[in-house]
Amino acid sequence: MDLKDYITIVPDWPKEGIKFKDITPLMNNGEAYKYATDQIVAYAKERQIDLIVGPEARGFIIGCPVAYALGIGFAPVRKEGKLPRETIKVGYGLEYGKDVLTIHKDAIQPGQRVLITDDLLATGGTIDATIQLVEQLGGVVAGIAFLVELSYLEGRKKLDGYDVLTLMHY
Ligand code: PRP
Repeated sequence: MDLKDYITIVPDWPKEGIKFKDITPLMNNGEAYKYATDQIVAYAKERQIDLIVGPEARGFIIGCPVAYALGIGFAPVRKEGKLPRETIKVGYGLEYGKDVLTIHKDAIQPGQRVLITDDLLATGGTIDATIQLVEQLGGVVAGIAFLVELSYLEGRKKLDGYDVLTLMHY
């Protein structure tokens, strides 16, 4: 199966000059969604992952079915003001904007092997901030999985030394 058949490129969205990669057609197709999820599940199994961590909102869509398949937990990383209990936070830059990401302080046990999931690697700002949150809580980033990597934005440079899986490249 060619997963790119299920990615729709939307020109000039959300801003002029951005070629947005819409993953919703992939999620909308049960076979394609399962095929993509199964590859990440296999990757996670090889790395003996204890916990999945994903940034909102699309990191949840990728990570939760993987957690379910493995029978392990999922910890959400959310934008500031969304998590109800004590959090730690990290600021980050986006391809088009700026924000703060947070995680509950008790979401990760020190030494847990964490797989970080997201739909897309662009500049790497989101994942870099997510890595910092995981490591500040004592988690070990044992893998990072994306559906899509925008290679021309060179987000990989921020992930030097980490084990990364991407299912599609543009
Ligand atoms: C998008 C995407 C990734 C991130 C990639 O999320 O889902 O998380 O941007 O960009 P980066 O590599 O340059 O950081 P967004 O922040 O738009 O949030 P959303 O999923 O809640 O819409």
